[in-house]
Amino acid sequence: MPKIVIAIDGYSSCGKSTTAKAVAARMGYGYIDTGAMYRAVSLYFIQEKVSLSSHRDILMALENIHIAFKFNSRTGKNETCLNGLNVEDEIRKMYISNIVSEVSAIPEVRWAMVAQQQQMGRRRGVVMDGRDIGTKVFPDAEVKVFMTADTYTRARRRQQELLAKGELVNLDDIISNLEKRDHIDTTRAESPLVQAPDAMLLDTSYMTIEEQVDWVIELADRRLAELHRKRANKVLVK
Ligand code: DC
Repeated sequence: MPKIVIAIDGYSSCGKSTTAKAVAARMGYGYIDTGAMYRAVSLYFIQEKVSLSSHRDILMALENIHIAFKFNSRTGKNETCLNGLNVEDEIRKMYISNIVSEVSAIPEVRWAMVAQQQQMGRRRGVVMDGRDIGTKVFPDAEVKVFMTADTYTRARRRQQELLAKGELVNLDDIISNLEKRDHIDTTRAESPLVQAPDAMLLDTSYMTIEEQVDWVIELADRRLAELHRKRANKVLVK
């Protein structure tokens, strides 16, 4: 069976990573959370007081940033490591969400992250979620999904997620953070968030996680069957 790339792009907090993680587990594929990579860069920039307006400082900082995902058998989760340290919990906090869109709009940051993501998925067999996977990182992805949900639903989901980690954040603050990030993500000059022409739209406003996962798996199964048929036809023609 050939292995494919499943690209899941879309707005913040519409269930991309939860869906992508579950799809990867069911298919026996790797999962790459590209948002976590931009969050790790943001954390490093804050810790090292890197000026976002200094081209030179940014390039120097990027040289010193090493991001990896390590599987934690205790939690059963892939955790983000920045220069060898587990930063999985830290990068999900609000102070990172407040600067990550600005950091991820910096062209040098994007070039460095896109190159690493392409390397991580070079053997295919991955589910990758982000904002530019189907348009920039893997424009040849066999399955492309563009996820969306209404802002209120997304904000409630984010609030629950933060609460589960002990961070109580006002709903209005989350809504304004989401709206600000949507604006920066969709209007930046470098790889803005747009639906790829060949991506399938998935509105998760009224869907459960299970329904979202089934929807993507069905799409992937159809695509795999199509590839299988094409290969078989080629063999017959030969
Ligand atoms: O998916 P997330 O909310 O963790 O992503 C954090 C930020 O990173 C988001 O505001 C936009 C940015 N991002 C991006 O620009 N490109 C990606 N491929 C993934 C995330």
